[in-house]
Amino acid sequence: MVRPYELILKKRTGHELTTDEIEQWIQGVTDGSFTDAQSAALLMAILFRGMSDRETAALTLAMARSGRQVDLSSLPGIKVDKHSSGGVGDKTTLVVAPLVAAAGAPVAKLSGRALGHTGGTLDKLESIPGLRVELSLSEFLDVVREVGVAVASAGVDLAPADKKLYALRDATATVDSVPLIAASIMSKKLAGGADAFVLDVKVGEGAFLTREEDALALARTCVAVAHEAGRQAVAYLTSMDQPLGVAVGNALEVREAIETLQGGGPADLRELVLVLGAEMVRLAGVEADEGKARSLLERLLDSGEAAARFQRMIAAQGGDPEVVENPDLLPRAEVRLPVEAPRAGYVQAIATRELGLASMALGAGRDRPGAPIDLAVGLEVVRKVGERVEAGEPLAWIHARSEAQAEGIRARVAAAFRLGEAPVEPPPLIRQRVASGT
Ligand code: URA
Repeated sequence: MVRPYELILKKRTGHELTTDEIEQWIQGVTDGSFTDAQSAALLMAILFRGMSDRETAALTLAMARSGRQVDLSSLPGIKVDKHSSGGVGDKTTLVVAPLVAAAGAPVAKLSGRALGHTGGTLDKLESIPGLRVELSLSEFLDVVREVGVAVASAGVDLAPADKKLYALRDATATVDSVPLIAASIMSKKLAGGADAFVLDVKVGEGAFLTREEDALALARTCVAVAHEAGRQAVAYLTSMDQPLGVAVGNALEVREAIETLQGGGPADLRELVLVLGAEMVRLAGVEADEGKARSLLERLLDSGEAAARFQRMIAAQGGDPEVVENPDLLPRAEVRLPVEAPRAGYVQAIATRELGLASMALGAGRDRPGAPIDLAVGLEVVRKVGERVEAGEPLAWIHARSEAQAEGIRARVAAAFRLGEAPVEPPPLIRQRVASGT
C-alpha cells in the first residue's frame, strides 16, 4: 500500500507517478483512506508539476472506474458522444444530437445543468412541457433504441471520485490545471460509455478558458487520454468571443434550436452544428467523406427530417412534441424590452461572460448547484461583432418577468457592447481541429 506522504513528496519533487500509485490514490479518495488534506496537497503538486499523458490517462481511467460505468454495447453501431466545455448561448447539443441520429448514428447523450455564466442542456430541455431528463438507465437505452437519440441526466454516480476532487479543487485554487480539467471531463465521458467523442473546447472571453494556448493544451490532452483509453476523439477549438447564435436563456434557446433543426436559425449556430455533426457522422462510420457528410446533414436540416427526429425524442421522453410546430407552447416571459444602441457604429466586441452573467441575474442560470431557475427569461443578442447599428436600434432584447426586472439589467447589457467607428471582422468561429497525432 502506497503511503500518501510518499506520493505527495514524489510529485512535489517532479517525478512521474506510476499507474498503480494513481489508482491507489483514487481508491483512497473513494474509500476515505486518503484525507482531504493529503489529496489537496497532491492536487497542488500536480498543478505545479503537471502530468504526462500517461499519468493523465491513468488518473482519468481510475476516476471513470470509481462509480457506475454505462454499458452501451446493447445499442447497435459506433456510439459517438459530444461534449462542450461550456459557453453562452451554446445550444448545439439540442440540434446536433437529433440531426446526427437522423443521419443514422445512435446518440446516447448524458448532459449536465447550468452553472455560473454558462447554460446547461438539461435545463434547456426541461423548458419543453412534460419532458423528463431524469431517466433510468434502461429507459434511457430504450429511447435510444427506439428513436436513435436520447438526452438525459448524467446521474449522481458517474465518476464520484471526480465529484470529490472537484469540490477540493474548487476550495484550494487547483481547478485551472490542464491535466486535472482533462481528467475531470474525460472520466465522466468515458464512464458514459461512448466509443468516440467530439469535443467542443470553447475559447475566448465567454469561455471557461480564455487563452487559445490553454484551450489547445486541454484539447490535445483530452484527445490523447481518449486514445490511451482505446477510444477515438476529435476536438475543435471554437470561439466564445461572442454568444453562439442569438438566444441566451433556456426556452429562448430551445426555440432557436428548433428553427435551426428546421433549416433556419443563425448562421454561426448552423455552421457549428454542421462541423461537429459531420465529425460525429464520420466517427460513427456512417459517412467517411467530410463533404458528403456535410451535404447529408444539410439535407436533413432543410428537409425537416432532423426536426422530426427531435419531435420523436421529445415524445419518447414524455414531452409535448407539438412544441416543434408551435414554439409558443414554450414558457414565455411577460416583458420584452429593447436595449438600444447609444450611438451609431460597428460592434467591436461583446463582453460575452457579462451577458451570461446578466442572463443569470435575470434567473436563467444558477450560482450554486440545485438552485431554482426561470426557464422563460433571457436575452436575444441581435447585433454581433462586425455588424453595423444605427443610434437607437436594438443591440439586444431582454426577456424578463417585469418591467422593473428588465430595467434593472438594461444598463449592464448595453455596457457589454463596445461600439466604434471602424468596421471590424467578426472573430473566426472554428479556430482549430485537434485529432490524435496533431
Ligand atoms: N468541467 C469539468 O467537468 N471539470 C473541470 O475540471 C472543468 C470543467
